[in-house]
Amino acid sequence: MLHSFRVFNALALTALALAGHVHSFPTFQWPNVLLAYAEKQLYQGPLDILAQNCPVRINTTIPAQWLRIAYHDMSTHNVDDGTGGLDASIQYELDRSQNVGEGMVDSLTDFGKSFNIRAPFFGMADLMALGAILGVAGCGGPLIPFSAGRIDATEAGPATVPEPQQDLASHTESFRRQGFTPTEMIALVACGHTLGGVRQVDFPLVVTDPEDYVQTFDTTVNFDNAVVSEYLQNTTQNVLVVGPNVTTRSDFRIFSSDGNVTMQSLLSSDTFNETCGTLIERMLNTVPSSVNLTQPISEPFDYVVSQPLFSYRDGNMSMITELRVMNENPSRTITMFWADRQGSTCPSTGCTVPSKATEEVIFGLIGNIQGLSANMYLFNATINPTTSISKFWFEVNENDGSDVIVVDNGGSGFAIEQDSVFVDNSRSEVVLTSTVDFTKLVIAVRGDASSTVSITTFNPFANSSSPPYLPVILAADLQLDESNPSEGGFTFFTTNISNSVNFLDITAIVNSTTIGQENVDLTVASFPEVDIS
Ligand code: HEM
Ligand SMILES: *[C@@H]1O[C@H](CO)[C@@H](O)[C@H](O)[C@H]1NC(C)=O
Ligand SMILES: *[C@@H]1O[C@H](CO)[C@@H](O)[C@H](O)[C@H]1NC(C)=O
Ligand SMILES: *[C@@H]1O[C@H](CO)[C@@H](O)[C@H](O)[C@H]1NC(C)=O
Ligand SMILES: *[C@@H]1O[C@H](CO)[C@@H](O)[C@H](O)[C@H]1NC(C)=O
Ligand SMILES: *[C@@H]1O[C@H](CO)[C@@H](O)[C@H](O)[C@H]1NC(C)=O
Ligand SMILES: *[C@@H]1O[C@H](CO)[C@@H](O)[C@H](O)[C@H]1NC(C)=O
Ligand SMILES: *[C@@H]1O[C@H](CO)[C@@H](O)[C@H](O)[C@H]1NC(C)=O
Ligand SMILES: *[C@@H]1O[C@H](CO)[C@@H](O)[C@H](O)[C@H]1NC(C)=O
Ligand SMILES: *[C@@H]1O[C@H](CO)[C@@H](O)[C@H](O)[C@H]1NC(C)=O
Ligand SMILES: *[C@@H]1O[C@H](CO)[C@@H](O)[C@H](O)[C@H]1NC(C)=O
Ligand SMILES: *[C@@H]1O[C@H](CO)[C@@H](O)[C@H](O)[C@H]1NC(C)=O
Repeated sequence: MLHSFRVFNALALTALALAGHVHSFPTFQWPNVLLAYAEKQLYQGPLDILAQNCPVRINTTIPAQWLRIAYHDMSTHNVDDGTGGLDASIQYELDRSQNVGEGMVDSLTDFGKSFNIRAPFFGMADLMALGAILGVAGCGGPLIPFSAGRIDATEAGPATVPEPQQDLASHTESFRRQGFTPTEMIALVACGHTLGGVRQVDFPLVVTDPEDYVQTFDTTVNFDNAVVSEYLQNTTQNVLVVGPNVTTRSDFRIFSSDGNVTMQSLLSSDTFNETCGTLIERMLNTVPSSVNLTQPISEPFDYVVSQPLFSYRDGNMSMITELRVMNENPSRTITMFWADRQGSTCPSTGCTVPSKATEEVIFGLIGNIQGLSANMYLFNATINPTTSISKFWFEVNENDGSDVIVVDNGGSGFAIEQDSVFVDNSRSEVVLTSTVDFTKLVIAVRGDASSTVSITTFNPFANSSSPPYLPVILAADLQLDESNPSEGGFTFFTTNISNSVNFLDITAIVNSTTIGQENVDLTVASFPEVDIS
C-alpha cells in the first residue's frame, strides 16, 4: 500500500515540476532533532525581535554587537591544527582587552538569559551564529544560510583577536590562521565594519574626544557598502582609517593593502552583498575540526511534523501532533493515518483522523523577507492503547485539481520509537501559585508501581549574574503520583520542575528493561493550567 502511495507522490511532484510555477521546498527527513530545531529557530524563533530594523543600543546597534562578538569568538580558529573557531569560548575570554566593550556581555545576555532558545543540542555558539545571521538580515544585508551543531567550549581559547595597533603583516597572518586570504581579509573587515563603530570608552586612544560616544565606521546604520564608497571617495570618518592616531589606522592599512583593488570591486552593491554573505557564512561555520555542522538551511522545509504529545485517560490514548505545510491554502484538507504496534485493529490502510484546526504560521524576519506563508494543521488521534501506534503519515489534498500528496517521510512513515514511557500531556499541569509558578510533570509508564523513572532537565536560562552563562541541568527521580492512580496497565510518576525547563531526557526501568527518551521538547507541550494561588 505504502509503495503505491510513493509512486503516486512522485507523479504528483513531477506534475508540479512540469507546471513550473510552484516553488518546492526541501523535504525534511524525520527524525532529526537538531536540524528541525535549527530551522524552527531561524524561521519562527523569538530572537529576531532584537534584529528587526537594526535596533539601536548603547550608541551602536544590537546587530553590530552580535556580528562583532561572532567574529571575536571565531578568531581563535587555527587552520594549521583545526582547533578553535565559533565555539562560545569568548565567555571565558572577556577579561582580555581585545574583547573590551559592553556589547559583549549584552550579547551574551541576549543569547543566554533572555530567550527560551538554548537546548541540550543547540548551545551558545549556535545562538551566536543565528544572531549574526538575523542581525545582518535585520540591517538589510544578505540572507546567510544557517548551519547548526556547534559545540560550546568549556574554557578560553588563545588570545588571537586582531587589534587596531597591530601592523599589516600581523593582521595578514591572523587572518591566514583563521582561514582567510589577504583579499578575503580586506572584504571581511569591510563587511564587519559596515555596522556599528568604535566607542570612546572602549578605545580612548582611538576615539580621543570624550564627547564622542561612538565614531561609526560609515554614515549609514544599515548593512550596506557605504563603508567602501566613503573610503574610496576619501570622505570617510572611520577612525580606523582617518583617526588622529596613525598607529591605530588598521582599516586603512588593510583596505589599501592591495592598491584598493578589492575595495573597488566592493563598490558594486551586488558584489558587496554577495561577497559578505559568502564570507560571513564561512566565518560562522569556522569551527574546530571535530565538529560536524548540519546542512545549510536557506529555505524552510516542507511538511514539518512537531513532536507528538501523548496522554492516557479512561481507556483511550490520545496523540496530538502538528504538521506545517508551506504556502497557505484555505481549501487544503489533510488526513492523518497511523499503523498499530501490536495486534491489528487499524485496517491495512491505517486508522485515520482529519486535521482539527488550521492556523496561519507567523514567520519572522527571514520568512518575511523571503515572502513565505504556511499553515499549521493540528491532529488529535484517539488511539486504542492495547494495539497502540508504531508510525503515522499524512495525505494532503490541495483540492485544486492536483493529485493527493502522501507525506510519509520518504516511505518509512513517522515512527514512534516506543509507546511505553511518555510525558502525559493532559495529566501534567502548569501550576500557578502566589509565589513561584512551576510545572507538575506526570510521566505515564506502561507497567506497574515497581517501575522507576528519572529525568534530566535542561533550563536554558543561566542563573549566574556574569558570563559564562551556563544552562542549568538537573537530575531528579520521580515518585508515584497519588493523584493519578494507575489504570489500564499504566502507572503515573511525578515531580515538580521549573517552568523554564524546555527539554528533558527520561530514563525508566520497566519490568527490568531500561527505556529512554531523549530531548523531549516541552515547548510544544500544551499542559493545562491549574491555579492554586
Ligand atoms: C584587523 C581586524 C579588525 C580590527 C583591528 C577590528 C577592530 C575593531 C574595533 C577597535 C572596534 C571598536 C569596538 C568597540 O568600540 O567596542 C570594532 C568594532 C566592530 N568590528 Fe571590528 N575589527 C576587525 C575585524 C572585524 C571583522 C572581520 C568583523 C566582522 C566580520 C568586525 C566586526 C566589527 C563590528 C560589527 C564592530 C562594531 C561593534 C559595535 O558597534 O558594537 N571587525 N572593530
Ligand atoms: C550615547 O550614549 C550616551 C550615554 O549613554 C547618551 O547620553 C547619548 O545620548 C547617546 N548618543 C547617541 C547618539 O545615541
Ligand atoms: C542584499 O541582498 C538582500 C537579500 O539577500 C537584499 O534584500 C538587499 O536589498 C541586497 N542589498 C543590496 C545593497 O543589494
Ligand atoms: C584624502 O583626504 C585627506 C585628508 O582628509 C588628504 O590628506 C588626502 O590627500 C586625500 N586623498 C585623496 C586621494 O584625495
Ligand atoms: C596611539 O595608539 C597607540 C596604540 O594604542 C598608543 O600606544 C599610543 O600612545 C597612541 N598615541 C597617541 C598620541 O595617543
Ligand atoms: C586607496 O584609497 C584611499 C582612499 O581614497 C587613498 O587614500 C589611498 O591613497 C589609495 N591607495 C592606493 C594605493 O591607491
Ligand atoms: C562527525 O562525523 C564523523 C563522520 O560521520 C563522525 O565520525 C564523528 O563522530 C562526528 N563527530 C561528532 C562530534 O559528531
Ligand atoms: C475512547 O474513544 C472512543 C473514540 O473516540 C470513544 O468512542 C470512547 O467512548 C472512548 N472511551 C472512553 C472510555 O472515553
Ligand atoms: C484530544 O482528544 C482527547 C480525547 O481523546 C481530549 O481529551 C483532549 O482534550 C484533546 N486535546 C486537544 C488539544 O484537542
Ligand atoms: C514482565 O516481564 C515478564 C518476563 O519477560 C513477562 O512475563 C511479563 O508479562 C512482563 N510484565 C509486564 C507488565 O509487561
Ligand atoms: C545555579 O543553579 C545551580 C543548579 O541549580 C545551583 O547549584 C547554583 O547554586 C545556582 N547558582 C546561583 C547563582 O543561583
Ligand atoms: C509539588 O509541589 C506541590 C505544591 O508545593 C507539593 O504539594 C507536591 O508534593 C510536590 N510534588 C513533589 C513530587 O515534590
